Amino acid sequence: MPATEIRPGIYWIGVNDRTTDLFEGYWPISQEGISYNAYLVNGEKKALIDLAKGFKTDEFLAQIADITDLSQLDYIVINHMEPDHTGILSILRQLAPHAVILGTRKTQEMLKDFYQVTENVRAVEDGETLHLGPHVLQFVSTPFVHWPETMMTYETTQKVLFSCDGFGGYGALQGAIFDDQYADPAFYERESLRYYVNIVATFSRAVLRALEKLSGTPVEIVAPSHGLIWRKNPGRIIELYRRWAQYATSEGEPEVTLLYASMYGNTERVMNAVAQGVSRAGVPVEIFDVARIHVSYILPSLWVRRGVIVGAPTYEGGLFPAMVHALDVAARKRVQNRKVAYFGSYGWAGGGEQEFRRLAEGMKWEVLDSFTFRGGPTLEDLKKAEEFGEKFARRIAGQEAQ
Ligand code: FEO
Repeated sequence: MPATEIRPGIYWIGVNDRTTDLFEGYWPISQEGISYNAYLVNGEKKALIDLAKGFKTDEFLAQIADITDLSQLDYIVINHMEPDHTGILSILRQLAPHAVILGTRKTQEMLKDFYQVTENVRAVEDGETLHLGPHVLQFVSTPFVHWPETMMTYETTQKVLFSCDGFGGYGALQGAIFDDQYADPAFYERESLRYYVNIVATFSRAVLRALEKLSGTPVEIVAPSHGLIWRKNPGRIIELYRRWAQYATSEGEPEVTLLYASMYGNTERVMNAVAQGVSRAGVPVEIFDVARIHVSYILPSLWVRRGVIVGAPTYEGGLFPAMVHALDVAARKRVQNRKVAYFGSYGWAGGGEQEFRRLAEGMKWEVLDSFTFRGGPTLEDLKKAEEFGEKFARRIAGQEAQ
């Protein structure tokens, strides 16, 4: 895609990534892709805000060259050091050797650690302004949205917020860069939530602090470094991020996530009976086979829903390994304060439930109910499973006293 002017003298520069399978080496994006957005402020002085991964470098540099000679760049603003935004820094330094790199003090340290870059680097202060004529940049420290060095850059004359990871999302750009160019932004909202929970959610308190800090700043365009630029409704993505950050401490929506794993179908049969019970209570439920669905897609459901039912067999005296992994990642992402229930099969001795309870305790999950069965479920077990699911769902929906 060509460079695009988003406001007079301010350009989107960026590349779509549809070939990286795992973002951060872990989160699947084969189908959805991702974009790395950067911005060129082309005033009397010229500043490039954020860069891109070391990827499609020719395309990225050609977009800049269509607007200005690379050697004329005065500043490179690093809002965030993670290599998906700085991977081409070393090459750019060679092409724009006079450009001063701007970032927080922490960025200064990280530039040395990641790229051995120490010269022509200047740390900016929180709130400091930089006059580019006619544009004015203001730097806003927003630590831990996503790394400790993170800041955002606000262009004060056009009211554009360059927010880097903040307000970003998975999803390659599909032929257009603005929210108003898509009839249905549901794909980007869904992928922004998945991105939020996968990448940023651990730092939700920092997100709320940043939102509070920005609350008095008039923003007409939210220009993140992943995903859509929000110009028609910048408040939409800001409010979504606020809501998602609040889930870190709230009890979540009165709905159920049903996680299961099954070796030979016994736990799956019971899972279906449990799901019937949940549905009979009229409570929305999302079901995931944790051995087949990457936890990246499961985390958004866990993040927003109050109730979690875990169905997994005992495996060699403990909990089925794929379930342990899914719960471990949820714990690392600080999915806390959920109300949960457990069921599962065992062959000769239990152990799955005990391990589940240990994991649940570590996540401050309240175990409301559980049941186990030996081998395959009897008709009695299936009836019990249905009642178990219904009873749990009604408690989650507040249809019975907690
Ligand atoms: Fe898009 Fe934290 O990097």
